[in-house]
Amino acid sequence: MLHDVARDADICHILGYRRPVAFDDLLAGDGRVEPRDEMPEGYRRTLVRQIAQHAHSEIIGMQPEGNWISRAPSLRRKAILMAKVQDEAGHGLYLYAAAETLGVDRADLLDQLHTGRQKYSSIFNYPTLTWADVGAIGWLVDGAAIVNQVPLCRCSYGPYARAMVRICKEESFHQRQGFEILHTLSHGSPAQQRMAQDAVDRYWWPALMMFGPPDDDSPNSAQSMAWGIKRFSNDDLRQRFVDMTVPQAQALGLTLPDPQIAWNEDRGHYDFGPIDFTELAEVIKGNGPCNQQRLAHKVQAHEDGAWVREAASAYAAKHARPTEGAA
Ligand code: 3HC
Repeated sequence: MLHDVARDADICHILGYRRPVAFDDLLAGDGRVEPRDEMPEGYRRTLVRQIAQHAHSEIIGMQPEGNWISRAPSLRRKAILMAKVQDEAGHGLYLYAAAETLGVDRADLLDQLHTGRQKYSSIFNYPTLTWADVGAIGWLVDGAAIVNQVPLCRCSYGPYARAMVRICKEESFHQRQGFEILHTLSHGSPAQQRMAQDAVDRYWWPALMMFGPPDDDSPNSAQSMAWGIKRFSNDDLRQRFVDMTVPQAQALGLTLPDPQIAWNEDRGHYDFGPIDFTELAEVIKGNGPCNQQRLAHKVQAHEDGAWVREAASAYAAKHARPTEGAA
């Protein structure tokens, strides 16, 4: 019955109208909450926080890889990397648009990022020192992003869930291009193999930290899961990522920098060593290797782009005016 309510609500939404459905009924029937539905203020605030952080991460995430566009080893690699970085910009735009459906202003969200009042993912505060880092980011960082974000396609908030469907399709391509870069390097010269291994050594632990603090230390998880915003806990998703990645590392002929990784028959999962969550806390606080550089570059790019925003606004205002003599 509740599923019928939810399905009807979705159909009405697609057709452009919607009977009001109570928030609790929508959640109980696994339906989607839409912008005009009533929702608890805490639900709205949690979504704004998470979607804004997610959008900021996509935009700041363009920097580490953008660093290699001019130095990609071939025209083919350059074209692929440019397309990938451009995809991340697109993801940021879908997500800012999803956040705006909750009644917030994009300029205000950007201001909160630029003044350190909103966060972005810890992972983008690490440097990209070699070309192999572009492969490691694709394989590990986009791989972790997929594991974290596929469940968000079933998020209870409609605009966020729908944005995630397309984002996840593109992330899947990104992950494969990273795997392919590392596969080429790990089957190349000894120097290329060393470069690939070094990149994986540096990105493995930060990729595990992307999933957030351990469940016992995650203040938002329980409520976000009760509201159907998050579908799995941080630790469950981290475990899923390890289980998926260990066989891929074997296929690449690369070693993950954790001697404690071992298949646990009883659990049906890979065991892995302890994560240094003090490092995650420090990076989130702004003390990672590249925090200052990333934020300064973002603020500068925003200021340099002021004329583009002004021109776009002027163009929109001009074309919004009704034509003279129009009925
Ligand atoms: N980096 C920075 N901050 C983090 C973090 C990380 N890796 N992990 C957790 N945090 C922050 C949280 O935002 C929260 O801060 P706040 O309460 O002050 O806002 C605090 O640490 C406590 O963590 P919680 O586990 O309680 O927070 P959440 O329930 O929000 O879970 C999350 C954190 C798992 C990252 C969740 O917000 C989420 O799934 N977000 C959507 C996905 C996302 O933002 N991914 C970022 C990467 S985007 C990307 O990878 C793009 C690509 O192209 C590669």
